Amino acid sequence: MKKDVIIGRGAEATLYLTKDGVVRKVRHPKKYRLGVIDDNLRFSRTKREKKVYEKLSIPHPKLLGFGDDYLEIEYVDGDVLKDVFDVKYSKLIGEHVATMHDSGIVHGDLTTSNMILKDKTVFFIDFGLSFFSTKVEDKAVDLHLFYRALESKHHKEFEKAFKSFLEGYKKSENYDSVMNRFEIVEKRGRNKHK
Ligand SMILES: Nc1ncnc2c1ncn2[C@@H]1O[C@H](COP(=O)(O)OP(=O)(O)O)[C@@H](O)[C@H]1O
Ligand SMILES: [Mg+2]
Repeated sequence: MKKDVIIGRGAEATLYLTKDGVVRKVRHPKKYRLGVIDDNLRFSRTKREKKVYEKLSIPHPKLLGFGDDYLEIEYVDGDVLKDVFDVKYSKLIGEHVATMHDSGIVHGDLTTSNMILKDKTVFFIDFGLSFFSTKVEDKAVDLHLFYRALESKHHKEFEKAFKSFLEGYKKSENYDSVMNRFEIVEKRGRNKHK
C-alpha cells in the first residue's frame, strides 16, 4: 500500500507527498509555545499563505484545499531549480518577481530552492514567509535575498545571473525606486559585517 512521504521539514511546517499525489503542508503544534498563542500563530500563518496563493498571478502550483493548520497544494513534477540552475532562466525569474511585486506580494524567501522547473516553466513555491506589501523597502529586501542566494548557491554564474534577473525585473512599474533602495539595503548589509 502506498504511504504519505515527508518531502520537507522546515522550522515552520512539514511537507508530505500524500498517497494521492498531493503536497500537504502542515503546521504542527510547537510544544515550546503556549497553547492559545501557538494555535493563533499556526492558523493565522496558514490563512495568510492561503490568501497569497489565491492572489498569485505568476506560475505556481494550484492550491487544492486547506484547513486551519494545513494547505493542500498541487505537486509539481519537475526539478528544484537549485539543482538544474542555468543563467538562461534568470531573466524569466526577474519578470515573474516583478509581476508578483507589482501585485503587492513580497515572497520573503526568494531562493532557487523555492522554485521548481518543469517544461521550461519556473514555478514559485514556499509562500510561508510571504506577505502583502507595496513598500519599496520590502521589495528591495526581497531582491537582496535573491541576490545573496545567487551569490552563495550559484557563485560561478552569480554576476551574469543577477544582471539578467534585473533585465527581467525592469518590467516592474517601480523598478527605479526599488533599485535605489536596493543600493541602500546592500550597503547596510555590508556595514553589518564589518
Ligand atoms: N508543490 C510542490 N511540488 C513539488 N515539490 C514540492 C512542492 N512543494 C514543496 N516541494 C518540495 O519540498 C521542498 C520543501 O518545500 P518548501 O515549501 O520549500 O518548504 P521548506 O523550505 O519550508 O521546507 C521543496 O524544496 C521541494 O523540493
Ligand atoms: Mg523552501
